[in-house]
Amino acid sequence: MTLGQVMQAASAFAIVQGAFGWLVDNYPRLANWNACARRIASLMMSLDGLERAEQSNKLGRIKRGEAAGGAMLSLNNLSVSLDDGTAVVKETKVVIESGERVLVAGESGSGKSTLVRAIAGLWSWGGGSVNIHADRRLFMLPQRPYVPTGTLRRAVAYPGAADRWTLDKIKAALDKVGLDYLNDKIEDDAPWDQTLSGGEKQRLAFARLLLHSPDIIVLDEATSALDEKSQDKMMEMIVHELPKVTIISVAHRAELEAFHSRKITLERREGGAKLVSDIDLVQRKRRRNLLARFMGRRRAVPKRSTTLSKAALPETKK
Ligand SMILES: Nc1ncnc2c1ncn2[C@@H]1O[C@H](COP(=O)(O)OP(=O)(O)OP(=O)(O)O)[C@@H](O)[C@H]1O
Ligand SMILES: [Mg+2]
Repeated sequence: MTLGQVMQAASAFAIVQGAFGWLVDNYPRLANWNACARRIASLMMSLDGLERAEQSNKLGRIKRGEAAGGAMLSLNNLSVSLDDGTAVVKETKVVIESGERVLVAGESGSGKSTLVRAIAGLWSWGGGSVNIHADRRLFMLPQRPYVPTGTLRRAVAYPGAADRWTLDKIKAALDKVGLDYLNDKIEDDAPWDQTLSGGEKQRLAFARLLLHSPDIIVLDEATSALDEKSQDKMMEMIVHELPKVTIISVAHRAELEAFHSRKITLERREGGAKLVSDIDLVQRKRRRNLLARFMGRRRAVPKRSTTLSKAALPETKK
């Protein structure tokens, strides 16, 4: 091999090495681009699906109107279906009065979240109507609250503007939900969505309720990440701070019954879930208390025994 050929080979090797190096150097940027492209493609597919469903005449729409007769909320033959026409909930009729606290129960997949999404106006496919008392404001708390980027103040105020409440009001709201240790960081710009734990995000969502003070609250497993004691505190706090509020909550935990006045149960059926029971929890609690008091009184009266106990036997003379 001549010296010229050796030089040529060395320069060709350097070029190939440089080309491979470009791939290694730019790998993070390529991975980032790929992730962004996938997210945008899936968003575009969802938007296309939404447009198709919007244009389809086969799918009905849930009507929204004003509740009649002083009711806070009424569901009139409400059916909820998916955007392909599959029925999830069928013909539900419920009237909820102002101040009622309604627990929606049912096995997993029975359509509870779909029902409350329709009530909150986040799902429009189906039939029948959702009627809400005029000028009443509804606030929904999902299982995983959205935490926007920016300051903690913005996250607490969401969906309101960050500067709508004074610093003292925001601090007071954080205090009441047990997040007072974040009071010094209210103006900090940080990735709060990744920083806060699941339970902290749920507490943050309860702080939003205190600031917005809505008339109707829809909770979809909004305390699922909290321990039992914290859950009780959150519910007690809401009942105490917003005594007139109407609550509709979806939950699996039986302990939550104590904070509700009524329980409706959905059952998954062929052709859409159906409302199978509507129980007055206050009456039931009263009956249970009466029974407990009655049983307590009975227990206080000495038991009449058919066989005399040893202690009660008269001493026998030996
Ligand atoms: N956007 C959607 N696309 C397709 N199917 C859906 C959609 N939303 C809900 N479903 C289906 O509708 C049914 C009811 O779902 P939903 O989330 O309302 O149940 P759930 O009672 O809230 O259950 P869980 O207690 O597990 O939260 C499920 O079978 C679910 O797979
Ligand atoms: Mg659900």
